[in-house]
Amino acid sequence: MTDPLLDVRGLKTSFETGQGTLTAVDGISFTIESGEVFGVVGESGSGKSVTALSVMRLLDDAGTVEADAVRFDGTDLLSLTESEMRSIRGGEISMIFQDPMTSLNPVMTIGEQIAEVVRHHGDAGERAGFWSEMTRKYVTGTSTDSHSWQRAVELLETVGIPEPEKRATEYPHQLSGGMRQRVVIAQALAGDPSLIIADEPTTALDVSIEAQILNELLELSDEFGISVLLITHDLGVVRETCDRVAVMYASEFMETGHVDDIFEDPHHPYTKGCSRASPESTTTASGSASSRGRFRT
Ligand SMILES: Nc1ncnc2c1ncn2[C@@H]1O[C@H](COP(=O)(O)OP(=O)(O)OP(=O)(O)O)[C@@H](O)[C@H]1O
Ligand SMILES: [Mg+2]
Repeated sequence: MTDPLLDVRGLKTSFETGQGTLTAVDGISFTIESGEVFGVVGESGSGKSVTALSVMRLLDDAGTVEADAVRFDGTDLLSLTESEMRSIRGGEISMIFQDPMTSLNPVMTIGEQIAEVVRHHGDAGERAGFWSEMTRKYVTGTSTDSHSWQRAVELLETVGIPEPEKRATEYPHQLSGGMRQRVVIAQALAGDPSLIIADEPTTALDVSIEAQILNELLELSDEFGISVLLITHDLGVVRETCDRVAVMYASEFMETGHVDDIFEDPHHPYTKGCSRASPESTTTASGSASSRGRFRT
């Protein structure tokens, strides 16, 4: 058997707060196989985002992360230097957050931002040092003839942005929320990742485009063989899209397993409660996004 792509064992994350130590993630373990869509579902405050941020080592100094192992593709992420970790982020592992504006720079064109990721993580064959990037950013812009720019345009097209050449020259505020999240997906693909961690990637969007964007993300992952760690409140989304799921409650994983098994035959009282409130009973024939069961309304 081949090793899993991501292997997390005994992850524990705590914060020092005014009221003492808060354990936000308490000894969770999971694996994600190559090409798999793994869901983490749970109520607000259960520790889903902290789990993702701990794996990516993106927590500020307040957080203490301990684990028996956080291995990605055989590499122990916890033992990497910050600069080694930086080259993994946005490269082999990329992250998509709920609010696209967290990931987009408001004063750079979207083409510029994607091209920058292509130069840093791909093999564009263009200079990507500090001064070269500064010159591009403030003086020349990325040449539209360059490989990185053309790849940026291609990626915008891949995620379904119409008129990608023109859109590439626009700024984030000129795009709709749905289009911005597509840009973020393009940016996440630009580093040629093998894992995308998506933390509620569509909850900030209108329900009418939510399903569309999520499908886009999952189809692309499937096409390019990218594994996805999908964090969501939405049980309908989990049922429709994930291979396996972990149900998180109060800093712990209550149950982990194949989606069908977990929802057909839940063992933990918490999951049983979720299943009763879940979409089977409420979803309309069309399965519209608005009818999905949610933890938080
Ligand atoms: N930087 C931090 N400092 C202190 N406590 C934090 C920090 N980040 C998160 N927490 C706490 O950790 C717990 C888990 O938070 P987390 O953001 O992971 O929840 P979540 O499951 O992602 O919730 P939501 O569904 O609302 O996004 C919460 O009690 C939160 O207040
Ligand atoms: Mg969260």
